[in-house]
Amino acid sequence: MNVKTITSPSAMTRFVKKARAKGKTVGFVPTMGYLHDGHMALVRNAKRENDIVVMSIFVNPAQFGPKEDYAKYPRDFKKDSRLAKKEGVDVIFYPAVKSMYLPNHSTYVTVEKLTTNLCGRSRPGHFKGVATVVTKLFNIVPADTSYFGQKDAQQAFIISRMARDLNIPMKIKVVPTVREEDGLAMSSRNVYLDGNERREAAALFKSLSLAKKLISEGERNSKKIIRAIKDFTTKNSSAKIDYVSIIDTDELKDIKTLKGRILIAIAAYFGKTRLIDNMILEV
Ligand code: PAJ
Repeated sequence: MNVKTITSPSAMTRFVKKARAKGKTVGFVPTMGYLHDGHMALVRNAKRENDIVVMSIFVNPAQFGPKEDYAKYPRDFKKDSRLAKKEGVDVIFYPAVKSMYLPNHSTYVTVEKLTTNLCGRSRPGHFKGVATVVTKLFNIVPADTSYFGQKDAQQAFIISRMARDLNIPMKIKVVPTVREEDGLAMSSRNVYLDGNERREAAALFKSLSLAKKLISEGERNSKKIIRAIKDFTTKNSSAKIDYVSIIDTDELKDIKTLKGRILIAIAAYFGKTRLIDNMILEV
């Protein structure tokens, strides 16, 4: 038996409303599929805290740039369904693109300020696509709580801010990043890496760990830490760095001197594959 799968947005909404009318709590895990243990950590949190868990699997064309990997983004619904079943997901929402974006779709959600730095700078339009699809998913799956990963830190900040600003009646929870043994953050895009790139990709987490060590030893100068991260990464891999930033966790703006709760974020290309990672530290 597979997990119950719903493809129609209106049927999905009816299912959630019915469950909640019966007094059941609903947890929601939005994904683009090709599931790995990072996604499953969100499911496990949702299971623990709710009676019913809904997962969406939808590769959202609106969040990919024209030169990005929408067409070749990995997809394997059968395997996803099996993994979801094993983890106790109750329903998978699996809509077609044409039922999410009707002809002449004209409405988009733009979150200002938080989207100008980090990935927002290198992927113009990306967070507009994310905020729009997540708003649609929140309307289609009116759950009690939704679960997002720390792995995509900027995305989690943006969605939390959006939900607050637009009075979306949904609690947003952020779950720590799940990593491979060598520290590489799990990602559906890791399948793109060849053997050598895969080995080198561990440099991302190791460079963040080095930064953590420097900070624990007293370093507070942002520029010096960024330099150390870049030097480490380029010495230990052939990665092309997109950005290394140290920002505050409120406005996501670059900071010069470390103080309070900070986020260190890195994005780099291993061959054609763009990977991201981050660490939140209390200084
Ligand atoms: P996707 O990349 O499939 O990720 C789905 C969720 O899993 C996101 O909240 C992401 O942060 C989380 N996640 C991914 N890797 C993780 C890891 N190693 N540890 C913990 N959590 C991890 O993010 C998206 O899809 C899309 O942008 C989406 C929000 C579904 C909107 O289309």
